[in-house]
Amino acid sequence: MAIRNVVTEGDEILRKKCRVVTEVTDRIRETMEDMLETMHSQAGVGIAAPQVGVMRRMFIAEPEPGRVYYMINPEILEQDGTQFSSEGCLSVPGLVGDVERPERIKIKAMDLDGEVKTYDFEGFDAVVMCHENDHLDGILYIDKAKNIRDAEAAIDEDEEEI
Ligand code: NI
Repeated sequence: MAIRNVVTEGDEILRKKCRVVTEVTDRIRETMEDMLETMHSQAGVGIAAPQVGVMRRMFIAEPEPGRVYYMINPEILEQDGTQFSSEGCLSVPGLVGDVERPERIKIKAMDLDGEVKTYDFEGFDAVVMCHENDHLDGILYIDKAKNIRDAEAAIDEDEEEI
């Protein structure tokens, strides 16, 4: 595994639509393991492939330590309810903002073995999944956020960060 450079806001890579993964190859698995290591190196809870410059529809989410989801070709099938929470992003360092997201989602994705699975998520899990899924379509949380502010000030408010 290797830590890769994280692309930051302002780079056009983050604004492009990612392509479908046609086959889960060893190269895809290696990329995902590198993404996990990169995410851990920056204490993130999610990372999407374009954030390491790979334009494929895949992301990793770890909404709580040790509970890791490898999502390839994810598709949100259903969503309902709304919630607001404070989000940050490894590609937008130093800032957080308040984003409206669905309270619950049903999402389908392939895992590292190429098996398609369907998941139900709610609360913070749903926030992380939606945030990462947006990256695959070139959308950043700052496009949707209100009250974007300095992350250090937000920590003083005792809010959660992605
Ligand atoms: Ni992000």
